[in-house]
Amino acid sequence: MINNDVINEIRNKSDIVSIISNYVPLTKRGKNYFGVCPFHDDHSPSMSVSPEKQIYTCFSCGATGNVFTFVSEYEHISFIEAVKLLGNKLGYNLTTHEKVDTKSGDYKIYEIASKFYQNNLNSSLGKKAIEYLENRGLNRETIKKFGIGLSLNKSSLTELLINKGIKLDKLIELGLSNTMSNDLFLNRIMFPLYDLNGNVVAFSGRIYNMKDNSKYINTKETSIFKKGNLLYNYHNAREHLKKNDYVIIMEGFMDVIRASTVGINNCVATMGTAFTKEQANIIRKMTDNVILCFDGDKAGEEATISAIKVLEDIEINPKIIRLEDDLDPDEYIIKNGKEAFLNKIDTSINVIDYKLSLLKKNKNFHNLEDISEYIDNSIKELVKVNDDILVELTLKKFEAEYKIDYEILKKKYETYNNKKDIKEVKVVKNNKKVITIYEKAERSLIYYMLKSVDVLTLVEHNISYFPSMEIRYLSNEIIDFYHKYGKIDVADFISFISSKEELLKVLYEILNMDMKDEYTNLEIEDYISVIKKYFKKSKISKLEKSLKEETDPLKQAKILSEIMAVKGVK
Ligand code: UTP
Ligand code: MN
Repeated sequence: MINNDVINEIRNKSDIVSIISNYVPLTKRGKNYFGVCPFHDDHSPSMSVSPEKQIYTCFSCGATGNVFTFVSEYEHISFIEAVKLLGNKLGYNLTTHEKVDTKSGDYKIYEIASKFYQNNLNSSLGKKAIEYLENRGLNRETIKKFGIGLSLNKSSLTELLINKGIKLDKLIELGLSNTMSNDLFLNRIMFPLYDLNGNVVAFSGRIYNMKDNSKYINTKETSIFKKGNLLYNYHNAREHLKKNDYVIIMEGFMDVIRASTVGINNCVATMGTAFTKEQANIIRKMTDNVILCFDGDKAGEEATISAIKVLEDIEINPKIIRLEDDLDPDEYIIKNGKEAFLNKIDTSINVIDYKLSLLKKNKNFHNLEDISEYIDNSIKELVKVNDDILVELTLKKFEAEYKIDYEILKKKYETYNNKKDIKEVKVVKNNKKVITIYEKAERSLIYYMLKSVDVLTLVEHNISYFPSMEIRYLSNEIIDFYHKYGKIDVADFISFISSKEELLKVLYEILNMDMKDEYTNLEIEDYISVIKKYFKKSKISKLEKSLKEETDPLKQAKILSEIMAVKGVK
């Protein structure tokens, strides 16, 4: 681990305004800087950066944090990696392989599980599974490359890990076992899923020798695995981009694996689910050259259309491959071979041509109404294209092909284009949730504890603990921080709790509240008395409940006087 003092030192030397400016243009307004938020689909500058507090906050999506969390989110690297990155720029020599402490244990467990599954495949128990894989044309080399393994028909993984001293609770939390100490994956071909750094963070198991309703089952989502936040084969594909600077996005594991068997290694898979914004952002960090190659069926067509939208939102114009006869890339390559697929890549089409081809479907081009409708719809699509020259060329093409006066086409284009501008003026929604008076009080106290040592001390001496558990933890951490460093600083405090995701989430919510910077002592005292009242009330209601249940009159009298005492009635 990097020492916290060093982390704070690096943070102090890394001015947040100049670091974020390297990623996002910022303009000064008042005492803060503003820029377009890179963490959501932002059309106006919603992110403010405070040079004073050294934090950023997006008032639209709620993203917030210090200079390290910005770099870590933007670059898709861990917090510690971000510390290293900024530190090394400043001349520190931070080369050791630190991982965020609590999580590295989880990675280890998945690693052991993955090794275990791979070994099973090579044992005598794996004969049938190897046969299945070989029938699908996967040789030993490919199996090894993708870490493919096999889960067995009894709970041997759970046993193995328990014998290594890992608690059952942990295995349940990681989605490997159930409460009965049974393995969750039984009799399946196992595909490890890797995070962006190449750590195993989950598995997907495919049936191969039995009947079951689900072809693949996946590890449930955990704090280190969100299916929509990663792309299958990302860590391998990234290496190959140096040679071929484009990435092909497919749907399934087998598609990516098949492509690799014919030497096409720059493929990733969305894993069946819709292509998410998060995945698009990962792609953007890899390259701007993207080819979508989803399954040839109707579902693949729909997936293509929605993926185009997601990519266009971050200004990537993908190329499109569509496969005939409902084939998926795996089946296409088996049926037609490598050269045919390479040819598909070479002849992939741009988005507008793809959309026009869809609009042409089921139209009779001998029918004038059909032609008119086709051109009208096409122009509506053209309006979305950001490339003036492409728009011009397409309009000229319509002019030549359908013998329509260019001016008429252009006029129509402009009409639709003006309408679009009106629609794009967006209203920023503030989804603030309703909170109780107690929550408001505790959150406000946390907010001002981070601003002032006076408030912090007042809370430390007057409130033994807060009603909400996460606020309780947060306040303890703030007090700990203060005693350790003798001062309080939001940006450093964010580093201090960087491995505690739940706490960070609450902290970010608090930083996002509409609070004024100044406070009066009276307000603070009010908040404290609200919290005290809360405890008084809950104590009284507890006593009243036991009073109701009590039948012994002597004991009843005792409880009654306790209630009086809490209420302050002598
Ligand atoms: P497909 O159903 O197209 O599977 O799902 P596939 O890639 O052709 O797989 P094979 O060739 O039959 O082995 C595409 C992807 O959707 C996810 C998987 O990631 C799969 O690779 N999926 C599919 C699931 O997660 N669960 C399922 O039950 C099915
Ligand atoms: Mn398939």
